[in-house]
Amino acid sequence: MWKDLWDTAISELTRAKVDRRHPFRFFTLGTIGAQHPELRTVVLRDFDNQEKKLYLYTDSRTPKVREISECPLVSCLFYYPKKQLQVRMRAEATLISDQTDLYSQHLQKVKSSKSIQDYTTIEAPGTITKGNDVEYAVDHINFALIECSAVEFDILQLSRKGHQRCSVVRSKDRTWKGKNLIP
Ligand SMILES: Cc1cc2nc3c(=O)[nH]c(=O)nc-3n(C[C@H](O)[C@H](O)[C@H](O)COP(=O)(O)O)c2cc1C
Repeated sequence: MWKDLWDTAISELTRAKVDRRHPFRFFTLGTIGAQHPELRTVVLRDFDNQEKKLYLYTDSRTPKVREISECPLVSCLFYYPKKQLQVRMRAEATLISDQTDLYSQHLQKVKSSKSIQDYTTIEAPGTITKGNDVEYAVDHINFALIECSAVEFDILQLSRKGHQRCSVVRSKDRTWKGKNLIP
């Protein structure tokens, strides 16, 4: 049973990277903050279904970047309401160096889209401001590419016929081993 749930979860994540309307396109990213667990919505920018790595973009000055550099353990939560499918992914996050080809490829995509603004505010995201006006830099971009490499999945499929749940863990030899769980 776990294999079917696993295949479904991976195929939905793979679809979400190309289908802008897929419910997995937005997910909740959890990091370990100094005082509390921290959660926020982010966009799934890419998913490598062989390596089970996902990618997201952010402003390099945001607290999540600092939190990840202090503790790379993160959780990603996806929910597909129509299919009643929940995927929880535990992962190790890495800030991809701006010296890599991967970073340059994603930066290029951002530069050719309107979302470039998201990474060019003069003041850092979360800064207290008096008015509603936001100023943007023209010559500087605080773009960060974050990679989350999965270590464990918890997949739950609700169904009138009976809920199904499994855990799939990456072992030391990097193969994936699953177990059925009581939902
Ligand atoms: C629909 C939606 C999508 C979002 N996508 C992103 C994203 O891809 N990257 C990002 O850094 N913030 C995104 N945000 C904003 C974050 O939820 C969050 O407010 C911001 O990144 C600051 O997070 P932090 O202070 O915990 O670092 C999104 C918010 C919403 C509502």
